[in-house]
Amino acid sequence: MNRKVVLSGIQPTGNLHLGRYFGAIENWVHLQNDFDCVYCVVNYHAITMPYNPVKLQENVWELVYNLLACGVNHESLFIQSKIPEHTELCWILSCMCSYGELSRMTQFKDKTDQVKEKNKDSFVSCGLFTYPVLQAADILMYRADYVPVGKDQDQHLELTRNIAQRFNAVVGKDYFVAPEALYTETPKILSTADPSKKMSASAGDKHNIDLFAPVDTIRKQIRSAVTDTGERSDTMSAGVENLFQLLKACKQTAIYNELLAEYSNQTLSYAVLKDHVADAVIQMVQPIQDRKKEIIADKKAVKDMIKSSSMNIRERAIATLNEVRSLTGLN
Ligand code: AMP
Ligand code: TRP
Repeated sequence: MNRKVVLSGIQPTGNLHLGRYFGAIENWVHLQNDFDCVYCVVNYHAITMPYNPVKLQENVWELVYNLLACGVNHESLFIQSKIPEHTELCWILSCMCSYGELSRMTQFKDKTDQVKEKNKDSFVSCGLFTYPVLQAADILMYRADYVPVGKDQDQHLELTRNIAQRFNAVVGKDYFVAPEALYTETPKILSTADPSKKMSASAGDKHNIDLFAPVDTIRKQIRSAVTDTGERSDTMSAGVENLFQLLKACKQTAIYNELLAEYSNQTLSYAVLKDHVADAVIQMVQPIQDRKKEIIADKKAVKDMIKSSSMNIRERAIATLNEVRSLTGLN
């Protein structure tokens, strides 16, 4: 029996932080055992915001090393721009997606604000507007059944399903599969510096904890996490809950239960909670950091492997595009 297809993507902007890891990448690694997985470093998406070409190139490879260190198989990993068919499918799908649908995307609104805040002379690109259609093309290209992502990608997944349905209606055939999101147990990790925001690379260094940061830095960041005002209330504050989430994500169930009981009895010291979280995170990142050292010892070998996996995965994209061109009268 054919295995179900899993596809996901990550932008080569910023670093690989705990939100990305626990929200998505850890799942990518586990799913490889049971599914036909394709994972992509989405550099076409990365140029939708103001960027520096030299830095982009560096970031792409850095992210590749980091993903391999986390346990992503090289045969499953490709670089989006090595498969230009994604842009062609994006164009065709953009003609099956309405302006109104794209205008409602919250990520577009958030990123528009970011562009304006950072530099008032920058402009909001059309690419940023059509970004979700390119994401739909990434997913539909491989007829993905499942898409492991964080909760922030819900709206884009819903749009992808709508585009798939519209395409099928236009061509009169159930060609594309409507994909489903796959969430981890921690689909949203918050910034430890400001728990009203999600942990993210674009909000600035203090708003994310880098998996590859020196362990002392990780400990310091966790020690300075915002908890609550000290006044007890009936509901746990977002900051404290986030620390518990991190502990759970690191699979420290026994300590998690113990500290949660202390919290309920009002005997928990936040300094102790933070120390446990820091220990757990450091224990989790250590082997990943060690693996990265081995991987970057031969960067050329890694680059050759990823170029070759991208070429292999491209064969699948070419086959889809041939069918799509015939179905849409573009052959
Ligand atoms: P991005 O950082 O936008 O490239 O996202 C890469 C993947 O990580 C996507 O699947 C996101 O949904 C996920 N992700 C990013 N930040 C977080 C977060 N703070 N919590 C959970 N998942 C996240
Ligand atoms: N938009 C996603 C993000 O910001 C990245 C992405 C691009 C993606 N293409 C994808 C995620 C395809 C899943 C599937 O995280």
